[in-house]
Amino acid sequence: MIRSLVRGAGSALPPRIVTNDELAARLDTSNEWIVERTGIHQRHIAGEGETTATLATDAARAALADAGLEPGDIDLIVLATATPDNTFPATATKVQAALGCGPCAAFDVAAVCSGFLYAMSVADGMLVSGQARRALVIGAETFSRILDWEDRTTAVLFGDGAGAIVLEAQDVGDLGRNEGPGILTSQLHADGKHHDLLYVDGGPSTTQTVGHLRMKGREVFRHAVVNLAQVLGDVVAKAGVRVDEIDLVVPHQANIRILEATARKLGLPPEKLVVTVDRHANTSAASVPLAFAAARADGRVKQGDLILFEAMGGGFTWGASLVRL
Ligand code: ACO
Repeated sequence: MIRSLVRGAGSALPPRIVTNDELAARLDTSNEWIVERTGIHQRHIAGEGETTATLATDAARAALADAGLEPGDIDLIVLATATPDNTFPATATKVQAALGCGPCAAFDVAAVCSGFLYAMSVADGMLVSGQARRALVIGAETFSRILDWEDRTTAVLFGDGAGAIVLEAQDVGDLGRNEGPGILTSQLHADGKHHDLLYVDGGPSTTQTVGHLRMKGREVFRHAVVNLAQVLGDVVAKAGVRVDEIDLVVPHQANIRILEATARKLGLPPEKLVVTVDRHANTSAASVPLAFAAARADGRVKQGDLILFEAMGGGFTWGASLVRL
């Protein structure tokens, strides 16, 4: 049986940190409101010369170093982003060129905050079917560039950054669906009728502008808790594992209240949640791999651990993956 194994992880954050107080100096908001409603204390914001591609490249280099691999060892790059450097070509091809990989497949996936889950699932399918052997799966964003900085209801929520993992196809022999290492199962969903609750009001084919993020936060919150609880239950049942076997949950970091409510619904203790929303805010497709790299760097992730990844975002899109290291 061929499985996709996680070989390494890495991340990159712009050095500039913007605190809640800094935002409160120019917007009608406060540190207290932001912390109480979201759990966010600060975010990293890209500076001049920093783009989705440069952050993605730095994260990919760190993941390759963690895996002990060279750019030439990679034969697939899947990059999740809603803030590409250009409308085309895919930001993944910029990363490919910057790293100096060979002429491997490289493309972007657009599923907003669930983008990393979608990218990981697509890469897994290509590895398991033999189309590639080693994949870089990257989530990278510069949401600061699509925010309406006059809109306090969205400007305080997002940040910039990138995270990456290296997946490698390996024959793991004859194993049950919930045994051994690798991606055990993934499940993805979308429901396009909620477009107007979370979208960008521009695009090449509609306005010929980049546009700004628009969100009806309260409604998104409500859908997020319901959809995530459902997909988490499904993925756990599909893999045939018990909830108490899960060592760590690496969730999309949108709001501490969503993370805690979802964990409660699943019956998972809060100490099993990886939380980075306080430091990174919502970095959309980058948030899951950023949180995973942070947990790996601080020693919370051990070989053999069963990890649950989950995310929900614009579209709506949502999904979850169960992975054993
Ligand atoms: N500072 C101060 N007051 C504010 C701010 C702010 N930054 N933003 C909104 N308010 C006010 C509102 O105007 C409102 O005032 P009113 O009662 O006088 O009308 C009040 O605070 C409450 O607003 P709500 O929107 O009801 O606040 P809520 O508790 O729902 O928190 C939040 C808002 C943080 C956006 C929350 O709804 C949320 O996290 N939603 C989900 C976001 C999410 O999960 N996104 C995921 C995907 S993101 C992606 O895919 C790109």
